[in-house]
Amino acid sequence: MNPELTKSEIESRLRQTDPGELEKLWQTADRVRREHVGDAVHLRGLLEISNYCRRWCTYCGLSRHNRSLPRYRMTAEEILDAARQIAAFGYGTVVLQAGEDDGIEAVWLADIIRTIKQTTPLAVTLSLGERSLEELRLWRQAGADRYLLRFETSDPELFRLIHPPLGGQTLSRIDILRQLRSLGYEVGSGVMVGIPGQTYRSLAEDIDLFRQLDLDMIGVGPYIPHPHTPLGEGRIKPSVSPAEQVPNTEEMTYKVMALTRLVCPEANIPSTTALATINRESGRELGLQRGANIVMPNCTPPHYRQLYEIYPGKACINETAQACQSCLAQRIRSIGRTIGTGPGCRHRRTPPCDAQSESAAARSAPNR
Ligand code: 5AD
Ligand code: FES
Repeated sequence: MNPELTKSEIESRLRQTDPGELEKLWQTADRVRREHVGDAVHLRGLLEISNYCRRWCTYCGLSRHNRSLPRYRMTAEEILDAARQIAAFGYGTVVLQAGEDDGIEAVWLADIIRTIKQTTPLAVTLSLGERSLEELRLWRQAGADRYLLRFETSDPELFRLIHPPLGGQTLSRIDILRQLRSLGYEVGSGVMVGIPGQTYRSLAEDIDLFRQLDLDMIGVGPYIPHPHTPLGEGRIKPSVSPAEQVPNTEEMTYKVMALTRLVCPEANIPSTTALATINRESGRELGLQRGANIVMPNCTPPHYRQLYEIYPGKACINETAQACQSCLAQRIRSIGRTIGTGPGCRHRRTPPCDAQSESAAARSAPNR
């Protein structure tokens, strides 16, 4: 964790437009990335295992607002076949991602996780939304290594607007992130950049919260309006003055990635598909040169891939997993970086805060 930049300094850098100052920011982020996580780019094979979702998020194309989207859920066999292919590509991790799908039963998924862990060398990352503590514990016991859950914004009012609560839910996403850590997961989170209603101040708070949570993985990508959602249609319009509204631009995304690298130098930071979507030519590469050290190639079978429409125009929608593999290898080599081997866990120079406090607690209360 880097305690140096204050929230106000982060905010003023987010507002920076001077090309010379921005160039300095990119270079500093690139240097800090090299010093702390090196030149290897780790590849995480992404499997979008279901596009069912029980929620009404006002930004997301998988939400229940999108009635015209055909829904799918991969079978256990399809997931295991794809995981074997990911291992054969030499990627170190499979990421199982889905909408918040009640049809993904805890025991069913635990069996799949166990099989992947027993039959491949892959690390398993889950990205399945807000699930119960019992489910998260079961999946951890089955061998899942990491969990991704973006908090999307640290502004509680904006969060409620973009992510209406379901009745009966008591834990916030921040609470869940803390629980994941205490279950022993590596924990990832992140935000969208330029969501309507997001102010410079609240985005600076988001970056500060990355630092406070001491996240292992931090994903940030531009918000891309989806026409079948209330925010994308413009039916919901948060009232924020134009001077305070963060734009959902490529440059702003790089600023957030670079500042994230400065405040969380050891974190694994992906160059996201959303970024590659708004700059197909060089978004991936520029992300990797401005703080990122991870890429998540899409390995979902093509006929399902088209239906995982979080936002329109997603990059690589018609490509095969093989095509993405050679495309990415070439892109990574073209900027003088190497492809990482092994699972690519976070390397800590300092023990995790929780590990320190947990071991202190264990010493004082051995029967806990
Ligand atoms: N534009 C950009 N990113 C989006 N996500 C969901 N909808 C959109 C959108 N319209 C992101 C959210 C979510 C992640 C899986 O995808 O941040 O956490
Ligand atoms: Fe998919 Fe380039 S990463 S085609």
